[in-house]
Amino acid sequence: MESFKVKGNANLKGNVIISGSKNAAVAVLPAVVLTKETVRLDNIPDITDVRTMIKILENLGVSIRRRGRNALDLTPNHLAAIDPSYDLVKKMRASYYFMGSLLARFGQARVPIPGGCDLGPRPIDQHLKGFSALGADINIEHGMINLSAKRLVGTNIYLDVVSIGATINLMLAASSAEGRTVLENVAKEPEIVDLANFLNAMGAKIRGAGTDVIRIDGVKEYRGVAHTVIPDRIEAGTFMLAAAATGGSVAVEEIIPKHLEAITAKLREAGAHVVVEPEKINIAAPDPLLPSDLKTFPYPGFPTDLQPQGMVLLTAAKGLSVITENVFDGRFNQVDELKRMGAKIKVEGRTALIEGGTRLSGAPVTAHDLRSGAALLIAALMADGESQISAIKHIDRGYENFEQKLINLGASIQRVSDDNYEQLSSSLD
Ligand code: EPZ
Repeated sequence: MESFKVKGNANLKGNVIISGSKNAAVAVLPAVVLTKETVRLDNIPDITDVRTMIKILENLGVSIRRRGRNALDLTPNHLAAIDPSYDLVKKMRASYYFMGSLLARFGQARVPIPGGCDLGPRPIDQHLKGFSALGADINIEHGMINLSAKRLVGTNIYLDVVSIGATINLMLAASSAEGRTVLENVAKEPEIVDLANFLNAMGAKIRGAGTDVIRIDGVKEYRGVAHTVIPDRIEAGTFMLAAAATGGSVAVEEIIPKHLEAITAKLREAGAHVVVEPEKINIAAPDPLLPSDLKTFPYPGFPTDLQPQGMVLLTAAKGLSVITENVFDGRFNQVDELKRMGAKIKVEGRTALIEGGTRLSGAPVTAHDLRSGAALLIAALMADGESQISAIKHIDRGYENFEQKLINLGASIQRVSDDNYEQLSSSLD
């Protein structure tokens, strides 16, 4: 296991280039199996979840040539399997997108019931309801989801819950269904638009992605294409919140500012200075931050994936702030760890009350999931003294080169393996 050794009282300054979107990449990669021709992908982030997805594709028979750290050519002309391996699938929840893409290509799929972050119950009833409406038979046994469909036939599907995963999975399956599918009450995230653009470039007929109604006319053939994945708005938002939380001055570059409007608005409300340029956002927070209320909602609301990082920012704002987590039932994994650093936070159900203004103090803490891990790193940078963050494998799932990007902004962070952490810390004091 590895940890980050972090010196506090950081003041992040400089420019950071944001990587490609994890959540777009893990949706586009399974969609590659729809074609037999070569697909050329760029701006793919080099993170653990993407490496896992690449291994799953190779196991299925896709030949993959890496053209660079963030550039891949994939040719799925010898697909031999319809069941991604359990050992790989259990590492990342997004592998369930192979349900939709393998159903579309082969009319069958066999995918282990998904694992993923510990964010409370994460059912997939909406995915299965949609697959069944399209004509798939579903049998769940021995921890496997077996889907098969002689024919997928287009139909109208109304999602009971706004779900990114269900929207993506049903868009994949419906792309090859006969006739028209209308998906209603769907998620509108930029990653869904990016996937729809990719599928349409391959020959799909998808209209309305980014709105709450998506119309899909099924096709049978898909061509190979080149696609560049959109920038990661959650990584960008993480750096924006880190800059403000450390009283720094940072420019996040190679982004799409429209995807970050909710974060920009919230940072301005908290007293940060935010200047938006065409592909860059500059954040500075010279003055004391102001307490504010934060509610998470599906896009274009404030993203749940930035709620833990937003909570850390609000510990620095003198006064009472209230966070309402409207997307997940149990997404406050960071709270107990932040309290070990002196944060004054009270959780009642989906609401967290933050009494901000007391400086955090460095402490040994543990990352429990990807985004709460990133939040703890921000807290460690803000705190007085040194912190050790363990279980950073969670952070490696979704942030490319994270510590190096922060070091380039002036942070003092070292990646150490837990077994020799003690020796190293004595030598560096
Ligand atoms: C996606 O997860 C993201 N993952 C998550 O990001 C993100 O937190 C989440 O959307 C919400 O924005 C990827 O894109 C790979 P949902 P997903 O289906 O698709 C309920 C990260 O840090 N629901 O939109 O699994 C569900 O319980 C990760 O990058 C059902 O009830 O989320 C939740 O309360 C963490 N039934 C809500 O909908 C279903 O069938 C939203 O979940 C599906 C979902």
